[in-house]
Amino acid sequence: GRVLSVASECVPLVKTGGLADVVGALPAALAAVGWDMRVLLPCYQGLRAQSAGWPVVWEEADLWGGPGRVLAGDVAGMQVLLLDAPHLYDRDGGPYSGPRGDHPDNAVRFAALSWIAARIAREGLESWKPDVLHAHDWQAGLAPAYLAYHGSGGVKSVLTIHNIAFQGWAAAHMLGVLRLPGHAYHPEALEYYGGISTLKAGLVTANWITTVSPSYAAELMRPAFGMGLEGVIAARGPVVSGILNGVDTSVWDPGAEDPPFSAKALAGKATARAHLCEEFGLEVPGPLAIVVSRLTDQKGIDLLPAVIPDFVLGGGGLIVLGSGDPGMEGAMRALAARFPGRVAVRIGYDEGLSHRLFAGADAVLVPSRFEPCGLTQMYGLRYGTLPVVSLVGGLADTVIGASPATIAAGVATGVTFHPVDALAFGQALTQLLTLHGQPKLWAKLRANAMAHPVGWETSAAAYAALYERLTA
Ligand code: ADP
Ligand code: GLC
Repeated sequence: GRVLSVASECVPLVKTGGLADVVGALPAALAAVGWDMRVLLPCYQGLRAQSAGWPVVWEEADLWGGPGRVLAGDVAGMQVLLLDAPHLYDRDGGPYSGPRGDHPDNAVRFAALSWIAARIAREGLESWKPDVLHAHDWQAGLAPAYLAYHGSGGVKSVLTIHNIAFQGWAAAHMLGVLRLPGHAYHPEALEYYGGISTLKAGLVTANWITTVSPSYAAELMRPAFGMGLEGVIAARGPVVSGILNGVDTSVWDPGAEDPPFSAKALAGKATARAHLCEEFGLEVPGPLAIVVSRLTDQKGIDLLPAVIPDFVLGGGGLIVLGSGDPGMEGAMRALAARFPGRVAVRIGYDEGLSHRLFAGADAVLVPSRFEPCGLTQMYGLRYGTLPVVSLVGGLADTVIGASPATIAAGVATGVTFHPVDALAFGQALTQLLTLHGQPKLWAKLRANAMAHPVGWETSAAAYAALYERLTA
């Protein structure tokens, strides 16, 4: 079968978070189980040069104030469709914002993407007609809605929630502008707190809804996690499922690091640790922990200043790589200044450094308040860098916390804690110090972690089964 995937980010073209990793990994993962997936994205300014010679496969005369065309190309074996509409996407900055903050016309920019996705799905390209339209997050939320309200052409739609915190809100007067029908403007359909949410529009119209872990699928139906949409999702319960993300095991491969290492040959990991400590001027007798993350409220980064002093006192060390909230960036810098030789901080985004951190560290900290799936705890498993995670969403679904029962059963892969507060997080770090002080047990945990499957195989099969069920 054929799937048109539509999203605002996709590795290796454009990324602000895990959404891009997942959208970029799905085509190859699904090809392995017999599904031909193409990815439709906006042609942002940074993609114009790369796609300059690509053939035009679709033209649209009026796309909210200017013309649009779709270019088709091959990016490292992935079939990519870029929606080229300079009046919407040829701008400085990231996918959502420019030098002066979020673009005020984001609702229209991503409605245009969704509109073209629905048209291509419904009518097909010259030689390629999809069976399924797979939309990701609020940016593509209107695509299922356009199929539902303007005709589906027999195409089935799937909406995947990667993060409910972003809902694509627009004022009520935008209804007509966004080409949505007035008759659907009521609480059971498009209306949302006196306006429109493109995510809700997708949730009420898609044939199926997935999210990126089974636990998050369950959490989303409760007020603590649903962020206003819990009732909408609960009402669609029979067509909601959680499919865990995988990670790209060819990109995240200890055998491809410098120096390489594996579960059986860990000398390379020890060397990587020594290099890291040298690079950051650290001397850490106990476990060396890392954080690689957006610095936001979601990620629980604000808890670090309360728990790191005791961790350092117990022999631990920490390297933080991330950027985001200016207050949190400052708090991280202050921690490093307070504990020279034990805590280091690099503000910024750096793929190369993140690989070196996972290779050389002993543990990765992920104290998220909510986490739809999370990828870094899986990098940690694969690299024998034990995850210390809060028991929410995909973190709870991927890490087996050390406890008397899981240690006796020989299955523990990390440390888990709950609730998400400084007390529980601090206790988890104390447990980490204790485990690190027992070399045989630590080696067992690390071996378990490295043996845990984190690739796409199981999840790709689950998506394929879903598409097959929908199109049967
Ligand atoms: P989210 O999408 O919520 O940010 P995920 O764990 O799903 O969280 O994905 C985050 C992705 O971004 C991972 O691939 C992670 O390694 C990467 N990442 C986050 N911050 C940085 C950074 N400062 N430098 C390099 N990679 C980063
Ligand atoms: C979102 C979530 C993260 C998830 C990623 C990919 O960014 O915050 O938990 O891993 O999407 O699905």
